[in-house]
Amino acid sequence: MDPHGPVRQEIAMSTQNLPSRPPARRRSVPELRARKGGEPIVCLTAYTAPMARLLDPAADLLMIGDSLGMVLYGLPSTLAVTLEMMVAHTAAVVAGSQRACIIADLPFGSYQASPAQAFASAARLMQAGASGVKLEGGVVMAETVRFLTERGVPVMGHIGLTPQSVQALGGYGPRGRGEAEARSIMEDGLAIEAAGAFSIVVEGTMEPVARAVTERLAIPTIGIGASPACDGQVLVTEDMLGLSGERVPKFVRAYANLGAAVAEAALAYAADVRARRFPGPAELYEPK
Ligand code: KIV
Repeated sequence: MDPHGPVRQEIAMSTQNLPSRPPARRRSVPELRARKGGEPIVCLTAYTAPMARLLDPAADLLMIGDSLGMVLYGLPSTLAVTLEMMVAHTAAVVAGSQRACIIADLPFGSYQASPAQAFASAARLMQAGASGVKLEGGVVMAETVRFLTERGVPVMGHIGLTPQSVQALGGYGPRGRGEAEARSIMEDGLAIEAAGAFSIVVEGTMEPVARAVTERLAIPTIGIGASPACDGQVLVTEDMLGLSGERVPKFVRAYANLGAAVAEAALAYAADVRARRFPGPAELYEPK
């Protein structure tokens, strides 16, 4: 007689009515790496569970960018974003999504001191559910990228305009205007690729520079203010939804004007409350 018989029967009965649809599977880092030169990679930023839920069916990759410092917290730059903030928002985006690959930014000060510091920070983001991390910088970060990738942390690079260097760069203007700058962006890309990165964001560069980097590298480039030739595109979601105020960069296309819709809804609600039109009979609990 099978001593586990009753338990087996119970498990069989309890799983009988489960839906037969297989659970959604996330896009993996190797899958995205294999998209070089193929179908463009669709990437958007996400910082919260509800937004991740809405974007997940459309996006191959959701990026928890440190842009959240400016977009969500109203900070003047990304420099004050902490690792704790990134861990919390990464966990929220993971909870709200099922299909997209999740890449989280290493914030300023959490990786530049040493490869060991970068690994400790990356581990926190991976433990929160990220499939990999993104860090800014080229040649100078190559050793760190190698250290991380050799220890099982998939790394996405970020070259061209690197917002964490805003103080050193003197602003957010596009990069790669002169020959020397264009060459150094190419060298940055090659160094990050050679160090083992699976993909690289190219931000705010002259179009021919982003195109040349994309043609030269064997890993997918994800462009933002870069080139349609890139292997994928990313936008800050709030920018393309009209939720970032009036000033957005030239490279943003407005796909919706949710800011106006939210403001209008708030005004309509305020008018109803002031006129005692809200709540109405349908919105009340009446005793039977
Ligand atoms: O911080 C961010 O959101 C980013 C992407 C827009 C590339 O780095």
